[in-house]
Amino acid sequence: MKRRKGTVPARLIMTLVMGTIGCNASLPEPESPAAQAYQQRCSGCHRLYAPQLLTAEMWKVVVTRMEQEFRRRGVPPLQTEERQIILDYLQKHGYKAS
Ligand code: HEC
Repeated sequence: MKRRKGTVPARLIMTLVMGTIGCNASLPEPESPAAQAYQQRCSGCHRLYAPQLLTAEMWKVVVTRMEQEFRRRGVPPLQTEERQIILDYLQKHGYKAS
């Protein structure tokens, strides 16, 4: 684990990270393990989609379909735990109608 020095305000880091992601998806909680897992596992074949784009129900369907794509292209499958972390993350930040 990396330790933050404490001299740079967290908010500035957030801004920089968001800026870097730019026109790609601006990921919520970019430094969380879940966001990192999402970036690592889901950006191999296409750009990252913002979690806010889809509802929780849609994410469940999409992740299941992506697992078929993983198999088709010989990408190592998601571990049960990894799948849950990514899905939880996407659903937590998913599209909400209200
Ligand atoms: C092995 C390559 C591959 C990886 C890795 C991959 N995807 Fe995809 N993804 C695709 C392909 C191919 C499409 C377009 C065809 C389709 O929609 O079935 C796609 C389309 C999508 C779409 C577009 C919406 C839609 O309904 O088509 C979303 C959202 C998505 N992927 C999310 C993810 C997530 C979340 C992950 C990580 C769990 C992921 N992808 C990892 C291959 C991949």
